[in-house]
Amino acid sequence: MGIALDHVFFTYGKRKQAFLALDDLSLTIPIGVTTALIGATGSGKTTLIQLLNGLFKPSSGTVEVLDYIFTKKAKYKKLSLLRRKVGLLFQFSENQLFEDSIIKDVMFGPLNFKYKKDVARKMAEDALKIVGLDESYYDRSPFTLSGGEKRRVALAGVLAIEPEIIILDEPTSSLDLEGQKMIRELLSTFKNLGKTVIVVTHDYKLVLASCDEVIKLQHGKLAFQCRKDKFFTLLDEQELPDYYKLKRLLTKKEINLPYQELSSNEIITVMRKAKHE
Ligand SMILES: Nc1ncnc2c1ncn2[C@@H]1O[C@H](COP(=O)(O)OP(=O)(O)O)[C@@H](O)[C@H]1O
Ligand SMILES: [Mg+2]
Repeated sequence: MGIALDHVFFTYGKRKQAFLALDDLSLTIPIGVTTALIGATGSGKTTLIQLLNGLFKPSSGTVEVLDYIFTKKAKYKKLSLLRRKVGLLFQFSENQLFEDSIIKDVMFGPLNFKYKKDVARKMAEDALKIVGLDESYYDRSPFTLSGGEKRRVALAGVLAIEPEIIILDEPTSSLDLEGQKMIRELLSTFKNLGKTVIVVTHDYKLVLASCDEVIKLQHGKLAFQCRKDKFFTLLDEQELPDYYKLKRLLTKKEINLPYQELSSNEIITVMRKAKHE
């Protein structure tokens, strides 16, 4: 029982307006590791993850998530149970905070799943602790927070229900450096705990620091799927961030830069050393 798509097509709209967002997509997402879902804007990433928690049905083909099998015709039974197992952090989820205090916002999920109030509160407190927000935040209004703090609260809301699978849609987008680092560290923690995580991202730093597997979509199709340490060799030149362009160039001269991005000074040290070898 894993996560798999078998010949999945997904179309938005009908007839003349129809747009094919997923085009005969078959793939398996491994359990117990962190998978990065990359690809240009419009390649179908968000559509794919919405199929994984039953928000959308495939137009044809089969989507398997844990013990759920979704097809166009299948009746969705006990979707709320799936939503407990598959936590989804939407893109810009910080805009969806709505309660008048942070603790209430994070308790919303557990209460919705019928946990008693004191249990729900404990779950919320634990989740807030994971994202690094202490009790001084509990009674504050979400609207008094910075963007990064709001993202943390939204993420705590996902973690509070203790999902088996955690899906994050562009969690570092529009965060400052500190916020991006927080997300990388959190994902590394999940990775070390052996959680199943799927993270949609353009952020290659995040992929390198905190993912195991990489899936790239292109026009709703699978471009490639590989282990993290191979994926830079599969990207096109123009997709590479500068550091990795340099890394690729230097490989041809048998100088190997590490995957973790180095500072300019560190690069110079590596090159000097290579010259003297
Ligand atoms: N509600 C919608 N109605 C019509 N087209 C949509 C809708 N949502 C997304 N699309 C289209 O489907 C394609 C895939 O979108 P999406 O899955 O959001 O891509 P990504 O997350 O990779 O940027 C895009 O071309 C987008 O314009
Ligand atoms: Mg998207």
